[in-house]
Amino acid sequence: MIGIYFSGTGNSRWALEFFLQEYEGRSRMYSIEDEDALKEIEKQKEIVFSYPVQYSNLPKMVRDFIVCHKNLWKGKHIFIIATMGMFSGDGTGVMGRLLEKYGAKITGGLHLRMPDSICDEKALKKSLEENKKLVADAEKKIKNAVKNVKSGNPPKEGLGFWSHLAGLLGQRLWFSRMTAGYSDKVKIDGQKCIGCGKCVKLCPMNNLELQDGNAVAKNQCTMCYRCVNHCPVQAITLLGKNVVKQGTIEDYIKGDR
Ligand SMILES: Cc1cc2nc3c(=O)[nH]c(=O)nc-3n(C[C@H](O)[C@H](O)[C@H](O)COP(=O)(O)O)c2cc1C
Ligand code: SF4
Ligand code: SF4
Repeated sequence: MIGIYFSGTGNSRWALEFFLQEYEGRSRMYSIEDEDALKEIEKQKEIVFSYPVQYSNLPKMVRDFIVCHKNLWKGKHIFIIATMGMFSGDGTGVMGRLLEKYGAKITGGLHLRMPDSICDEKALKKSLEENKKLVADAEKKIKNAVKNVKSGNPPKEGLGFWSHLAGLLGQRLWFSRMTAGYSDKVKIDGQKCIGCGKCVKLCPMNNLELQDGNAVAKNQCTMCYRCVNHCPVQAITLLGKNVVKQGTIEDYIKGDR
Protein backbone atom coordinates (compact mmCIF):
# COMPACT_ATOMS: atom_id res chain seq x y z
CA MET A 1 0.00 0.00 0.00
CA ILE A 2 1.17 3.51 -0.76
CA GLY A 3 -0.14 6.94 0.07
CA ILE A 4 -0.64 9.75 -2.43
CA TYR A 5 -1.45 13.24 -1.27
CA PHE A 6 -1.73 16.90 -1.93
CA SER A 7 -1.40 19.27 1.01
CA GLY A 8 -1.10 23.03 1.33
CA THR A 9 -0.41 23.48 5.03
CA GLY A 10 0.35 19.89 6.00
CA ASN A 11 -2.98 18.61 7.33
CA SER A 12 -3.62 16.11 4.57
CA ARG A 13 0.01 14.96 4.55
CA TRP A 14 -0.04 14.44 8.32
CA ALA A 15 -3.37 12.57 8.22
CA LEU A 16 -2.07 10.20 5.56
CA GLU A 17 1.20 9.57 7.37
CA PHE A 18 -0.63 8.84 10.61
CA PHE A 19 -3.07 6.51 8.83
CA LEU A 20 -0.31 4.55 7.10
CA GLN A 21 1.76 4.29 10.28
CA GLU A 22 -1.23 2.92 12.14
CA TYR A 23 -2.09 0.58 9.29
CA GLU A 24 1.26 -1.00 8.57
CA GLY A 25 3.84 0.63 10.81
CA ARG A 26 5.44 2.56 7.96
CA SER A 27 4.38 5.28 5.60
CA ARG A 28 5.42 5.09 1.97
CA MET A 29 3.84 8.17 0.54
CA TYR A 30 4.28 10.62 -2.31
CA SER A 31 2.99 14.07 -2.97
CA ILE A 32 1.43 14.61 -6.37
CA GLU A 33 4.24 17.17 -6.72
CA ASP A 34 6.89 14.39 -6.47
CA GLU A 35 8.50 13.15 -9.64
CA ASP A 36 8.22 9.56 -8.38
CA ALA A 37 4.49 9.64 -7.70
CA LEU A 38 3.36 8.42 -11.11
CA LYS A 39 5.65 5.42 -11.34
CA GLU A 40 4.82 4.39 -7.75
CA ILE A 41 1.09 4.59 -8.48
CA GLU A 42 1.62 2.41 -11.56
CA LYS A 43 3.23 -0.31 -9.43
CA GLN A 44 0.66 -0.41 -6.61
CA LYS A 45 -2.88 -1.70 -6.46
CA GLU A 46 -3.78 -0.47 -2.95
CA ILE A 47 -3.65 3.32 -2.54
CA VAL A 48 -4.71 5.78 0.13
CA PHE A 49 -5.29 9.26 -1.35
CA SER A 50 -5.44 12.26 0.98
CA TYR A 51 -6.35 15.81 0.04
CA PRO A 52 -7.87 19.08 1.38
CA VAL A 53 -11.43 19.90 0.45
CA GLN A 54 -12.05 23.28 -1.19
CA TYR A 55 -15.69 24.38 -1.33
CA SER A 56 -16.73 20.71 -1.17
CA ASN A 57 -14.62 20.13 -4.23
CA LEU A 58 -11.15 19.08 -5.36
CA PRO A 59 -8.42 21.69 -5.60
CA LYS A 60 -7.93 22.33 -9.31
CA MET A 61 -4.41 20.89 -9.18
CA VAL A 62 -5.69 17.61 -7.71
CA ARG A 63 -8.45 17.32 -10.30
CA ASP A 64 -5.96 17.99 -13.09
CA PHE A 65 -3.57 15.37 -11.69
CA ILE A 66 -6.30 12.73 -11.72
CA VAL A 67 -7.67 13.71 -15.13
CA CYS A 68 -4.27 14.14 -16.83
CA HIS A 69 -3.28 10.65 -15.68
CA LYS A 70 -6.65 9.01 -16.23
CA ASN A 71 -5.09 5.77 -17.46
CA LEU A 72 -3.41 5.22 -14.09
CA TRP A 73 -6.51 4.44 -12.05
CA LYS A 74 -8.04 1.40 -13.71
CA GLY A 75 -8.19 -1.53 -11.28
CA LYS A 76 -6.77 0.43 -8.33
CA HIS A 77 -8.32 0.01 -4.88
CA ILE A 78 -8.41 3.47 -3.35
CA PHE A 79 -9.27 4.60 0.16
CA ILE A 80 -9.85 8.37 0.33
CA ILE A 81 -9.09 10.75 3.19
CA ALA A 82 -10.57 14.25 2.86
CA THR A 83 -9.44 16.89 5.35
CA MET A 84 -11.55 19.98 5.96
CA GLY A 85 -12.03 22.89 8.29
CA MET A 86 -15.70 22.39 8.95
CA PHE A 87 -17.90 20.65 6.42
CA SER A 88 -17.75 19.10 2.99
CA GLY A 89 -20.74 16.79 2.68
CA ASP A 90 -19.02 14.53 0.18
CA GLY A 91 -15.34 15.46 0.22
CA THR A 92 -14.35 11.84 -0.33
CA GLY A 93 -17.23 11.28 -2.74
CA VAL A 94 -16.24 14.03 -5.11
CA MET A 95 -12.84 12.41 -5.62
CA GLY A 96 -14.30 8.91 -5.50
CA ARG A 97 -16.72 9.52 -8.34
CA LEU A 98 -13.96 10.92 -10.53
CA LEU A 99 -11.63 7.99 -9.85
CA GLU A 100 -14.45 5.49 -10.43
CA LYS A 101 -15.05 7.05 -13.82
CA TYR A 102 -11.51 6.01 -14.69
CA GLY A 103 -11.94 2.46 -13.42
CA ALA A 104 -10.84 2.62 -9.76
CA LYS A 105 -12.68 0.86 -6.96
CA ILE A 106 -13.25 3.06 -3.91
CA THR A 107 -12.77 0.96 -0.80
CA GLY A 108 -13.74 3.55 1.81
CA GLY A 109 -13.65 7.17 2.87
CA LEU A 110 -12.72 9.17 5.91
CA HIS A 111 -13.57 12.81 6.68
CA LEU A 112 -11.30 14.64 9.12
CA ARG A 113 -11.94 18.04 10.64
CA MET A 114 -8.60 19.82 10.86
CA PRO A 115 -7.31 23.36 11.40
CA ASP A 116 -8.52 25.72 8.68
CA SER A 117 -5.75 26.73 6.30
CA ILE A 118 -7.45 30.00 5.27
CA CYS A 119 -5.44 32.30 7.50
CA ASP A 120 -6.57 35.63 6.07
CA GLU A 121 -10.23 35.36 7.12
CA LYS A 122 -10.77 36.29 10.75
CA ALA A 123 -14.04 34.39 11.06
CA LEU A 124 -12.31 31.08 10.31
CA LYS A 125 -9.48 31.38 12.82
CA LYS A 126 -9.51 29.10 15.84
CA SER A 127 -7.29 29.31 18.91
CA LEU A 128 -4.14 27.22 19.17
CA GLU A 129 -5.83 25.02 21.78
CA GLU A 130 -8.88 24.46 19.58
CA ASN A 131 -6.67 23.50 16.68
CA LYS A 132 -4.61 21.14 18.83
CA LYS A 133 -7.82 19.50 19.97
CA LEU A 134 -8.98 19.07 16.38
CA VAL A 135 -5.76 17.27 15.56
CA ALA A 136 -5.96 15.11 18.70
CA ASP A 137 -9.54 14.15 17.78
CA ALA A 138 -8.43 13.39 14.23
CA GLU A 139 -5.79 11.01 15.62
CA LYS A 140 -8.46 9.10 17.50
CA LYS A 141 -10.69 9.00 14.44
CA ILE A 142 -7.87 7.70 12.24
CA LYS A 143 -6.98 4.97 14.76
CA ASN A 144 -10.58 3.85 14.84
CA ALA A 145 -10.86 3.94 11.06
CA VAL A 146 -7.73 1.82 10.66
CA LYS A 147 -9.13 -0.73 13.11
CA ASN A 148 -12.30 -0.92 11.03
CA VAL A 149 -10.41 -1.16 7.75
CA LYS A 150 -8.42 -4.06 9.18
CA SER A 151 -11.54 -5.85 10.31
CA GLY A 152 -13.04 -5.55 6.83
CA ASN A 153 -15.51 -2.82 7.72
CA PRO A 154 -13.95 0.39 6.35
CA PRO A 155 -15.69 3.70 6.97
CA LYS A 156 -17.58 5.04 3.96
CA GLU A 157 -17.88 8.67 5.00
CA GLY A 158 -18.89 11.04 2.23
CA LEU A 159 -19.50 8.28 -0.31
CA GLY A 160 -23.27 7.81 -0.17
CA PHE A 161 -26.23 9.50 -1.81
CA TRP A 162 -27.12 11.82 1.10
CA SER A 163 -23.54 13.03 1.41
CA HIS A 164 -23.52 13.75 -2.31
CA LEU A 165 -26.67 15.82 -1.92
CA ALA A 166 -25.23 17.66 1.10
CA GLY A 167 -22.04 18.57 -0.76
CA LEU A 168 -23.99 19.71 -3.78
CA LEU A 169 -26.63 21.78 -1.98
CA GLY A 170 -24.34 22.91 0.85
CA GLN A 171 -21.55 24.24 -1.36
CA ARG A 172 -20.97 23.17 -4.96
CA LEU A 173 -24.11 24.69 -6.42
CA TRP A 174 -23.02 28.09 -5.14
CA PHE A 175 -19.24 27.90 -5.21
CA SER A 176 -18.33 25.59 -8.09
CA ARG A 177 -16.74 28.45 -10.05
CA MET A 178 -14.15 28.86 -7.25
CA THR A 179 -12.46 25.58 -8.15
CA ALA A 180 -13.37 25.43 -11.85
CA GLY A 181 -10.09 27.07 -12.87
CA TYR A 182 -6.87 28.34 -11.37
CA SER A 183 -7.10 31.56 -9.40
CA ASP A 184 -5.58 34.96 -10.10
CA LYS A 185 -6.48 36.29 -6.65
CA VAL A 186 -3.11 36.04 -4.86
CA LYS A 187 -2.03 39.50 -3.74
CA ILE A 188 1.47 40.40 -2.63
CA ASP A 189 2.10 43.57 -0.69
CA GLY A 190 5.22 44.99 -2.32
CA GLN A 191 5.85 47.25 0.68
CA LYS A 192 6.06 44.27 3.03
CA CYS A 193 7.81 41.71 0.77
CA ILE A 194 11.53 41.34 1.56
CA GLY A 195 12.25 39.23 -1.50
CA CYS A 196 13.33 36.14 0.46
CA GLY A 197 11.98 33.81 -2.24
CA LYS A 198 10.44 31.33 0.22
CA CYS A 199 7.00 31.49 -1.40
CA VAL A 200 8.53 31.00 -4.84
CA LYS A 201 10.21 27.76 -3.71
CA LEU A 202 7.13 26.46 -1.92
CA CYS A 203 4.43 27.08 -4.52
CA PRO A 204 3.31 23.78 -6.08
CA MET A 205 2.09 25.57 -9.21
CA ASN A 206 5.17 27.72 -9.90
CA ASN A 207 2.73 30.57 -9.69
CA LEU A 208 5.14 32.96 -7.97
CA GLU A 209 8.37 34.53 -9.12
CA LEU A 210 10.81 37.17 -8.01
CA GLN A 211 10.99 40.33 -10.10
CA ASP A 212 13.35 43.11 -9.08
CA GLY A 213 13.55 41.75 -5.53
CA ASN A 214 9.81 41.38 -5.00
CA ALA A 215 7.56 38.34 -5.30
CA VAL A 216 4.86 38.61 -7.94
CA ALA A 217 2.00 36.23 -8.65
CA LYS A 218 0.72 34.87 -11.95
CA ASN A 219 -2.77 33.48 -12.46
CA GLN A 220 -2.25 29.75 -11.89
CA CYS A 221 -2.96 29.47 -8.17
CA THR A 222 -4.57 26.29 -6.81
CA MET A 223 -5.44 28.09 -3.54
CA CYS A 224 -3.42 25.77 -1.30
CA TYR A 225 -2.53 28.63 1.08
CA ARG A 226 1.04 27.37 1.53
CA CYS A 227 2.67 30.66 0.60
CA VAL A 228 0.21 32.71 2.67
CA ASN A 229 0.93 30.65 5.78
CA HIS A 230 4.72 30.64 5.30
CA CYS A 231 5.60 34.19 4.30
CA PRO A 232 7.83 35.54 7.10
CA VAL A 233 6.41 39.06 6.82
CA GLN A 234 2.75 38.26 6.11
CA ALA A 235 2.90 39.94 2.72
CA ILE A 236 0.64 37.47 0.90
CA THR A 237 -3.15 37.27 0.96
CA LEU A 238 -5.61 35.33 -1.15
CA LEU A 239 -9.30 35.28 -0.21
CA GLY A 240 -9.01 37.81 2.63
CA LYS A 241 -7.40 41.23 3.02
CA ASN A 242 -5.01 40.68 5.95
CA VAL A 243 -3.20 37.71 7.42
CA VAL A 244 -4.79 37.09 10.82
CA LYS A 245 -2.56 34.31 12.13
CA GLN A 246 -0.41 31.89 10.19
CA GLY A 247 -0.27 28.22 11.05
CA THR A 248 0.71 24.82 9.72
CA ILE A 249 0.26 21.30 11.05
CA GLU A 250 3.63 21.50 12.81
CA ASP A 251 2.10 24.04 15.21
CA TYR A 252 -0.63 21.65 16.28
CA ILE A 253 0.76 18.13 16.48
CA LYS A 254 1.69 16.68 19.81
CA GLY A 255 5.23 15.48 20.35
CA ASP A 256 4.10 12.03 21.44
CA ARG A 257 1.48 9.81 19.85
C1 LIG B 1 -9.70 27.70 -0.85
C2 LIG B 1 -10.09 26.84 0.31
C3 LIG B 1 -11.39 26.35 0.39
C4 LIG B 1 -11.77 25.56 1.48
N1 LIG B 1 -13.04 25.06 1.51
C5 LIG B 1 -13.41 24.30 2.56
C6 LIG B 1 -14.72 23.75 2.60
O1 LIG B 1 -15.51 23.88 1.70
N2 LIG B 1 -15.08 23.06 3.71
C7 LIG B 1 -14.23 22.88 4.74
O2 LIG B 1 -14.62 22.26 5.72
N3 LIG B 1 -12.95 23.33 4.71
C8 LIG B 1 -12.54 24.04 3.64
N4 LIG B 1 -11.24 24.51 3.59
C9 LIG B 1 -10.31 24.18 4.66
C10 LIG B 1 -9.33 23.09 4.27
O3 LIG B 1 -9.98 22.06 3.57
C11 LIG B 1 -8.66 22.47 5.49
O4 LIG B 1 -8.06 23.42 6.27
C12 LIG B 1 -7.65 21.39 5.06
O5 LIG B 1 -7.47 20.51 6.13
C13 LIG B 1 -6.31 21.96 4.65
O6 LIG B 1 -5.47 20.86 4.39
P1 LIG B 1 -3.95 20.96 3.97
O7 LIG B 1 -3.20 21.49 5.16
O8 LIG B 1 -3.59 19.55 3.67
O9 LIG B 1 -3.87 21.86 2.80
C14 LIG B 1 -10.84 25.27 2.51
C15 LIG B 1 -9.53 25.77 2.40
C16 LIG B 1 -9.16 26.53 1.32
C17 LIG B 1 -7.75 27.03 1.23
S1 SF4 C 1 7.78 34.75 1.22
FE1 SF4 C 1 6.94 36.80 1.56
S2 SF4 C 1 8.74 38.08 1.86
FE2 SF4 C 1 9.47 36.19 0.94
S3 SF4 C 1 9.46 36.63 -1.28
FE3 SF4 C 1 7.49 35.70 -0.79
S4 SF4 C 1 6.12 37.45 -0.43
FE4 SF4 C 1 8.21 38.21 -0.32
S1 SF4 D 1 0.35 30.98 -5.08
FE1 SF4 D 1 0.34 30.35 -2.93
S2 SF4 D 1 -1.75 29.62 -2.56
FE2 SF4 D 1 -1.45 29.72 -4.78
S3 SF4 D 1 -0.79 27.68 -5.39
FE3 SF4 D 1 1.05 28.87 -5.00
S4 SF4 D 1 1.58 28.47 -2.86
FE4 SF4 D 1 -0.53 27.81 -3.17
